[in-house]
Formats: sequence, structure tokens, C-alpha cells
Amino acid sequence: MINLPFRPQFADESPYGAPQLDVPVCLNVNENPFAPSAELIADLAKAVGEAAHTLNRYPDRDFFPLREDLSDYLAEESGVRVEPSHIWAANGSNEIMLHVLQAFAGPGRTVVSFAPTYSMYPEYARDTDSKWVVGRRAEDFTLDMDSVRDIVFSARPAVILLASPNNPTGTALPREQLLEILQFAATSGPEEGMASIVVVDEAYSEFRRDGVPSALELLAEYPNLAVTRTMSKAFGAAGLRLGYLAACQEIVDQLTIVRLPYHLSAVTQAAARAALAHRGQLRKQIAELRASRDSLADDLRRLGLDVADSDANFVLFGRFPDRHSVWQGLLDRGILIREVGPEGWLRVSVGTPAENAAFLTALKETM
Ligand SMILES: Cc1ncc(COP(=O)(O)O)c(C=O)c1O
Repeated sequence: MINLPFRPQFADESPYGAPQLDVPVCLNVNENPFAPSAELIADLAKAVGEAAHTLNRYPDRDFFPLREDLSDYLAEESGVRVEPSHIWAANGSNEIMLHVLQAFAGPGRTVVSFAPTYSMYPEYARDTDSKWVVGRRAEDFTLDMDSVRDIVFSARPAVILLASPNNPTGTALPREQLLEILQFAATSGPEEGMASIVVVDEAYSEFRRDGVPSALELLAEYPNLAVTRTMSKAFGAAGLRLGYLAACQEIVDQLTIVRLPYHLSAVTQAAARAALAHRGQLRKQIAELRASRDSLADDLRRLGLDVADSDANFVLFGRFPDRHSVWQGLLDRGILIREVGPEGWLRVSVGTPAENAAFLTALKETM
């Protein structure tokens, strides 16, 4: 038998991913439950059809028209105008964050985050041979600033990953805490006097409650800040695979060093621009999903459960002595949610009103 050169660090690893099961109600990966409109589908087909005329050629490597559209979208969504050249895009925000670690972390460097948080973060660190250091969030899933400061100054990370709203808890990072982190991160990097890059992962930002700011507002002042976003969640385009980042020019320029050539296909660019042109439809959907999230949280509390406050399109609830049996009980009734987060908790994505009602009925039966 041939002896393949397996890498020891992957010996006990398995591929990341929530179960993809064919069930009537999928509330497990925080997608927007509303399918694209007939108008959007027609425009997407037209845009992709036009792109097809030049598919024999490599795509536009720098995709400035898409960056301009993303800049317009961010300005409308958050009130912050980001220069198109300060925007970077890739196949999902997962790829964006991998680019950040490839460019700034790697062997001999450290990446820090605070759990419970998005479970892909340690995988980016593993895949870039970066050291992974993880602190704990407080009981209510907020950041304990004393412990954040201690961990950051002892780990001296090249990159700090902070999801806001955080997955799987839904917790947003208050502006004062982010400001404090950005200030001390200006000198907490791998070498004396060097900064750590603070990535604020805003995958769920569009769902934040009124009065919760976006980190984009601090970009102009903090060159060590990078804000990542995605079209996979509120935008209702998880299948498109389009994530993006806003940061200073120097950070974006470094990302262009590590990206693969022509990483964003002509089809993706065309489809993303067509979807962005339909962004007007989103506002109503997002408002509906936010309202459903709040009433779902209230309903779960009325069942006597603990529910984490959420600024995202999902709710973490518990605590169950045997969460797997609750997850399985729901699945047996055709409802797929996610067994993730601290022991005893489960996460449910906000679905359509009918899906939310089906989930609640099944949960009552299961409990
Ligand atoms: C916090 C967070 N960040 C990033 C992502 C990655 O999303 P995508 O690669 O689809 O943009 C996810 C996906 O679930 C997420 O929960």
C-alpha cells in the first residue's frame, strides 16, 4: 500500500459542515428563508447570459464595478461610504477571512477569538498554520473586557476575530467595547509597536436591532480594523457565494497578494451585481425577519427556556440536559435545527412564519 504524505495536524480532522438533510423545514444554517423573486431570477438569468458571451476569457480580476455596487449598498445600509478600492470580495466571507489570515497570520503568528463563536475560525487558523488562542465569553455571551485585554496582550495576535452579531449566540459587540479593543490593538501585535488586525465579522449585521451601530463607522479612524460582510444571510443569496470586506487600502492590497488569480468568476460577479440591483426588496424582508426573531425569542421564553438576546436571524435557546434528543425529536418531525454552541443549548434560524410555527409546535411536542 502506498504511504500518502498525510499531514499530522489533519489526522483527527473531519470536514466542517452542518448536516445537509432533505427535510421540510431547514432552520439550521441561518439562511434567508425567502426564495428570490421572479423579477430577480429573470435579471440574474439575463446578467449571467450576458457574461456567458465572454466565458472563454478569464474574468475581471479586480472587479471594480462590483466593488462600486458593494460600496453603494454599504452606504445605504450603514450610512458609511467606503471607497470601492477599500473593498475586497471573494467566494463567501469564509474565503475573505482565510485571505486575511493568509496575508497577516501564518507560521509563528497567532489568531485570537472568544468562544462560543463561529466554529470556522479555528479552521482558518489551522489551515494557515497559525497558532489559535481562544478566550471565553462571559455567562451572558458578552465579552469580558479584562479577560480580552489579558489574552490579547499575552498572545500578541496578528489577527483578532470578533463576530458581531456573534454566531451562535446572536450577541452584538457594543461600540464602547470595540473602541477599547481597537485602541489597545494598535500596539498588541506580534512585534513591539505593531498592531493586531481586528476583524469584525458582520455576517449578520443587517439584522441588528435599532441603535446597534456597524463597525463600518469606525473604519476611517482605525486602520487596523477590517469589517467583513456577506450576501449569504440577509441578502438571501447563500448559493451565490459572495462575501466582502471593507478596510484600509494597505490591508486590501495585502489580500491581493494571497488571492488565487481570477478567484471571483465572471458568473459570480454578474449574478452578485444583478442581486445588488434588487436590494430594494430586502428592507421589507429584513424587517419581517427581525420581528419574527423577536417573537420567536418571546415564544421560547414563554416555554420557560433560556434565550440569548439576538441581533441576528437566529436564536440560541436551552438549556436541555440532553440537547441531542431534542434536536433528534425535531428532526423526526421534519424540522432541522443546529446542535451547536455551549452544551445544553440549541440554535434555530428564523424561517418563514409557517416554518417558525411548525418549529414551535414540534418543539412543544418534543419537550
Ligand atoms: C459568523 C459568520 N461569519 C461568516 C460566515 C460565512 O458565511 P459565507 O462564507 O457564506 O459568507 C458565517 C456562516 O454561517 C457565519 O455564521
